[in-house]
Amino acid sequence: MKLREFGNQDLLVSPIGLGMAALGRPGYINLGHAEDLQHNYDVDAMRSHSHQVLQTAYDAGVRYFDAARSYGRAEQFLASWLTNDILKDAPTIGSKWGYTYTADWQIDAEHHEVKEHALPVLIRQWQESLQLLGENLNIYHIHSATLDSGVLENYEVLERLWELKSHGIVVGLSLSGTGQADTLRKALTIESEGEKLFGSVQLTFNILEQSNKVLYQEASDVGLGIIVKESLANGRLTSRNQAPEFAEKAAVLNFIADAYETSIDAIAMAYVLAHDWCSVVLSGAANEAHLLSNLEAAKINLDRTDIETLDKLAEDIGVYWKTRSALAWN
Ligand SMILES: NC(=O)c1ccc[n+]([C@@H]2O[C@H](COP(=O)([O-])OP(=O)(O)OC[C@H]3O[C@@H](n4cnc5c(N)ncnc54)[C@H](OP(=O)(O)O)[C@@H]3O)[C@@H](O)[C@H]2O)c1
Repeated sequence: MKLREFGNQDLLVSPIGLGMAALGRPGYINLGHAEDLQHNYDVDAMRSHSHQVLQTAYDAGVRYFDAARSYGRAEQFLASWLTNDILKDAPTIGSKWGYTYTADWQIDAEHHEVKEHALPVLIRQWQESLQLLGENLNIYHIHSATLDSGVLENYEVLERLWELKSHGIVVGLSLSGTGQADTLRKALTIESEGEKLFGSVQLTFNILEQSNKVLYQEASDVGLGIIVKESLANGRLTSRNQAPEFAEKAAVLNFIADAYETSIDAIAMAYVLAHDWCSVVLSGAANEAHLLSNLEAAKINLDRTDIETLDKLAEDIGVYWKTRSALAWN
C-alpha cells in the first residue's frame, strides 16, 4: 500500500489502518465479536492474538493503528507489539481520551465505559497513554466529542490541548451520532492566529451513512487528516448480515462484489476510499481472515457507475444511528 500525507499534519499513513476496539477487550458491539475471540478472554491469549493481527496488518503495509483508553488493554497490547525490533519503519499511532474503561474485563458488565470530557480526565488519561506509548504516539483524539459534552467550549481543556499541540502531538477529535456535522463545524472554528487547533478528525462514514460529504471535503481542504471509522457499519456491511430487511441491499452489494471478484466488505471499504477527502479507512477486524479480506479494498478502483449505484444504498441518518445504538455488546 502506497503511503500518503495525513492532511497537512506532517505525518504519513496507509490508505487502510487497523482499529483496536475489538482487539483490546473481551466485550464489543460488533456482530459476532465473541466468536472471533473464540470466547478465550485470557489476557495473555488476547495479547498474543492482537499481536498476530497487528503483525499481519503491518506486513501487509498498514502504517496507521488506532487505539483508545476505553478499549481495555488496546494501548498496552499495541505498546508491547511496538517494542519488537522487526518493525523496519515506525507506523503512525493514534489514541483517544474521554471514555474510561469500566468493564473490568467482563462481557456482561453493566457499564463498559464512562464518558467524561473534563480536564482531570484528560490529564490522567494523557499520562496513562504517554506511559504506555511514549514517543510512538502521534495523534490524540477527544473520544466521541459532541456539542452536548461541552468539551469544545471547555477552555481549560482547550488550553491543555494547545499545549499538547505545541509539543508536536496532532490534536484531534472523533465524532459520533447524528450530530457529527455540527460538532465538526464547531471544531473547525477553534483557531489561534489563523492556526487551527484540530489536525485530525475521526468520523463514521459508510455506504449506509453517507451524510456530510461536502463538509468532510472542506475539512480536508483546510488541512485536516480524516480517519473513517465503522466503514462496515459494525459488521452490517459484511456477508454476516443475513437480516431479511437487508436482503435487497445485500443483493446489490453481492452483484458488485462478484463483478470485482471480491467480498462485500472490500467493496464497502473501497467505496469509502473512493472519496478524495478520506486519508485513512479503519479496518475493525478482530481476526486475520477478516483483516486480509478488508485489505483487498486497497486494490479496488470502483468505477463511477458502481459508485453511483452504491450512493443509492444510503439509509436515513436517524434510522442508521438508531440501528447502531441497538447493537448488543457481545
Ligand atoms: N467513537 C469512536 O471514536 C469510534 C467508534 C467506533 C469505532 N472506532 C474505531 O474504528 C474502528 C473500526 O470500527 P468498528 O470495528 O467499530 O466497525 P466496522 O469496521 O464498521 O465493523 C467491523 C466489524 O465488521 C466485521 N468484519 C470485518 N470484516 C469482515 C468480514 N470479512 N466478514 C465478516 N465480518 C467482518 C468485524 O468482525 P470481526 O470482529 O469478526 O473481525 C467487526 O465485527 C475501531 O476499531 C476503532 O478503532 C472509533
